[in-house]
Amino acid sequence: MRRRGFLAAAGAAAVAQTPEKVIGSAAEALEVFDFVPVARKNVQSQHWAYLMGGSDDNSTVNANENGWSKWRIRARRHVDVSAVDLSVELFGQKLAHPVLAAPVAAHQAFHAEGEAATAKGAWSRKSQMILSTNASLNVRDVAKAYGGRLWFQLYSFSDFEVNRALLRNAEEAGCTAVTVTVDSVGGSPRIMQTRGGVKTEQRCRACHGTTQADYYKEHGNFDGIDMARNVGGPGRAVTWSVLDRIRAATKMKVLIKGVMTPEDAAECYRHGADGIVVSNHGGRAENSHYGTVDALPGIVEVVNGRMPVLIDGGIRRGVDVYKALALGATAVCVGRPYVWGLAAFGAEGVDKVFSMLQSDLRGIMQSCGATAIRHISPLSIERK
Ligand SMILES: Cc1cc2nc3c(=O)[nH]c(=O)nc-3n(C[C@H](O)[C@H](O)[C@H](O)COP(=O)(O)O)c2cc1C
Repeated sequence: MRRRGFLAAAGAAAVAQTPEKVIGSAAEALEVFDFVPVARKNVQSQHWAYLMGGSDDNSTVNANENGWSKWRIRARRHVDVSAVDLSVELFGQKLAHPVLAAPVAAHQAFHAEGEAATAKGAWSRKSQMILSTNASLNVRDVAKAYGGRLWFQLYSFSDFEVNRALLRNAEEAGCTAVTVTVDSVGGSPRIMQTRGGVKTEQRCRACHGTTQADYYKEHGNFDGIDMARNVGGPGRAVTWSVLDRIRAATKMKVLIKGVMTPEDAAECYRHGADGIVVSNHGGRAENSHYGTVDALPGIVEVVNGRMPVLIDGGIRRGVDVYKALALGATAVCVGRPYVWGLAAFGAEGVDKVFSMLQSDLRGIMQSCGATAIRHISPLSIERK
């Protein structure tokens, strides 16, 4: 295995080649895994299991992480790399770098300040943040904590009026894009999460309650939204015709998140998507044993530059970002790493995670003779 993998990272220690040391401040971190032991200590065990768990035996979580090591770097020399530009353009907006914060639910399960701390940390590194439908705090409050304009993530609800209200609130809070998640339709057993006891044991029920209504009460984006006519949980009701309706209901750019096949990517384009996110929900959707990077080349080929292709899943280092860009991704999202930073040191931890990913990316670009993102091409890597 290339690196520790999730099950090991979920344990007591996180070390690379260096002796094991529990860091005392965000500034001491050398890699994102350095946050794991501190985060593990700070987060109660049920929430930890929720964060780390994937489907079944976590093999898709590990496939995501390990997929990146199937590619090797082809480093070109003899280029003046004293100045490197990490910026990318997405939907006419210039991003300082191509590493986004993926939508992750319920940040208050990991830090008392929740998404407000994430927003502060992400923005201090000019990282585009995507706020989950199921965030602890509502989009208005997170937008105030963030310096830029958020993106929103939408789980579609059977009552389309709920979607309309969520989209409207996101627009009013200044969001410029919405990622519609299509890979979270239920059905995947999350063994680690269930063993950890999230919402299955008395101690979880004590905090979370047992009904769907309790659930909406503790997720800020549902404030003031009438959920009475909705049937089923978030994300279940998402067909192509629902996507068409979402497209028509918002002025925001619409990206479809959770695409894993070229066929679906082509259909997304046909249905007017502005972009897609290649994702398997961090190995929490179907247990495919198939990493997102494995799906990327076929999807990039069929999309053929007609819309941005983003990717997430197992991205832990700048070199992973570099490989994703070389395979044709426009940008990447990371999930668990910034939550480890958040849980360990709040906004400072989030800041440090994005700072390390950026400086790693800059470093690998320098090593390989790429002074701008557009210089990273299929020739930059090859299959091992
Ligand atoms: C604890 C947790 C909660 C998540 N919540 C959401 C969510 O609310 N909406 C969503 O679209 N994706 C959600 N995701 C998936 C992430 O957006 C992203 O696809 C995934 O974390 C990327 O993989 P990584 O964690 O290996 O970086 C969640 C992931 C985790 C780990």
